[in-house]
Amino acid sequence: MLEKSVIEALIDTALAQRNYAYAPYSDFRVGAALLTEDGAVYTGCNIENGAYSPTNCAERTAVFKAVSEGERAFRAICIAGGKGAEEPSKFCPPCGVCRQVLLEFCRPEFEVILAVSREQYEIYTLGELAPMGFQL
Ligand code: THU
Repeated sequence: MLEKSVIEALIDTALAQRNYAYAPYSDFRVGAALLTEDGAVYTGCNIENGAYSPTNCAERTAVFKAVSEGERAFRAICIAGGKGAEEPSKFCPPCGVCRQVLLEFCRPEFEVILAVSREQYEIYTLGELAPMGFQL
């Protein structure tokens, strides 16, 4: 079980990361905070592209930053997203591509924190969000 103080810190970080989102096409700003088994936190935001399909989600930005720095053992990710600069009004569950990327590196017990605020969040396991995921 994640400690409440850790959950709150991840939520604060994911919400703050929304400020870095590059989302001129959708104005849907997403932030992510990825916690490693060692307690380090890697951050991510969505980065859109005028050709649309090269867009990178916040979750994948965080995972790719971490893996590119040698991290492979992950404990949890917090995701917060919504339109514009105001606080999100609903949860932002990871898209299918991001679920598949998480499956590559994380066990089914890996925790996914969907957050609107410190007061409003839900925690799912990756196994719940991506049952029977493809693996080679
Ligand atoms: N997006 C994320 O960053 N994470 C998700 O889990 C869902 C979608 C981004 C991609 C795009 O920049 C914008 O949100 C609208 O789809």
